[in-house]
This record gives sequence, structure tokens and C-alpha cells, in this order.
Amino acid sequence: MNYPTMLDPKLDLSLGWRGVPGWLSDEEAEGLQACVRAISPAQAYVELGAWCGRSLAATMEASRDGVSHYTFDSFPVTSQAVDEAGFSATQARDTLLEVVTHYRYKGKRVCFFEQDSTLGALAYAGPPICVLFVDDHHSADQVISNLKCWGPHLSYRCAILFHDYASEPFGLAKPINELLRPPSWEFRGVMGSMGLFVRI
Ligand SMILES: C[S@@+](CC[C@H](N)C(=O)[O-])C[C@H]1O[C@@H](n2cnc3c(N)ncnc32)[C@H](O)[C@@H]1O
Repeated sequence: MNYPTMLDPKLDLSLGWRGVPGWLSDEEAEGLQACVRAISPAQAYVELGAWCGRSLAATMEASRDGVSHYTFDSFPVTSQAVDEAGFSATQARDTLLEVVTHYRYKGKRVCFFEQDSTLGALAYAGPPICVLFVDDHHSADQVISNLKCWGPHLSYRCAILFHDYASEPFGLAKPINELLRPPSWEFRGVMGSMGLFVRI
């Protein structure tokens, strides 16, 4: 597992996304932000697994004006994140709400749904998704359900990034590679622990 244990629960938005507790590294943020810069205002960024909003903040700092950001998190009382962070799901959700409010005041279009990721897909009525960031429960079953449920909402040319794709203990690479195969999908490589696939 490459999670550091006991994250610092403090939020410092003067530091931007780096002041939000979470696991996203500089290298991963750079890769995610490069994808997000390509989103047009008619399309959406969707994130599965918000925690305190670190990756969400990184994307809102990179996106063009008018792009819609949606994030889904069910905040179960026990989760891989709670185990590793050293603070509760309630504290994480309260922090996320502060982050969402902060970026709304800056003019960003952002919605948080406290909902299971796959159920969220069934109700999703936003614009076609140009970038999907998958970072909720790290198991093969969850990744497969997410891809099946979110697939119909993806724009024709889109990118999907999987956090912890390359982190050994989770075993996510094999099921993802089996579902996102050439010629429709191209694997573009790994940034930190994050795998990037694009539809071609
Ligand atoms: C690794 S954390 C997300 C990290 C976040 N992207 C960041 O940048 O810090 C995983 C999150 O997935 C959430 N989660 C776990 N199972 C879920 C599910 N079935 N649906 C939605 N969210 C879930 C947890 O509550 C946790 O906040």
C-alpha cells in the first residue's frame, strides 16, 4: 500500500490544492491537470472518491471557466481512506464542503453528491464527461461496476484516470486492462500511481 498513514487533517487553502489533506502527489496532480485543461465548457469532469477534496481542488485550479465539476463520495464510516488517514469520514466530508464553497466563490461550477459512485451514475444528468477520475473504493469489483455504469456518460473522445492503478496491493491494473482494450482504448502510461487511458 503506498498510502502514507496519519494524514494531517488541517486545511490550508492559502496553499491551494496542496493545502488539502489527501494522497495525490505533485506528479499525479500535474497529469490530472493536463487532462483537465482539455475539457471544453460543454463537457464535464467527474470524480469518484472525493475525500477532503484534494484532487477536486487540483482540477478546479486547472480547468477553463464554465467547465462543470462533479464529485461523488458516499463517505462510509469505515473505508480504506478512514483506515489510512487517521481522521473520520465526517471530518473529511466537512473539509470537502469547505473546499467546494471556497472554489464556488471563485466562480467554479462544482457539485458534490453524497452518494455511492455507481448509484450516482444511474442518476447523472450532467454534460458528457471528457475526463473521469476514478479514486473511490479500490477493488476490482468496484472498478468494473464504475466502468459499466459511467460508460454511457463518457464523451466520444475522453480520458479515464485511475488512482492507485499501479499500486500492487489493490490489483486494479488487470481488470482495467481487460475492460479498456485496443483498438477503442489506448493506455497512455502511469504518472505516480495513476494510470491514464484515452478513447481513440
Ligand atoms: C482515496 S480516497 C479519495 C481521495 C481523493 N480523490 C483525494 O484526492 O484526496 C477514497 C474515497 O472513496 C470513498 N468511497 C469509498 N467507497 C465508495 C463508494 N462505494 N462510492 C463513493 N465513494 C466511496 C471514501 O469515502 C473516500 O473518501
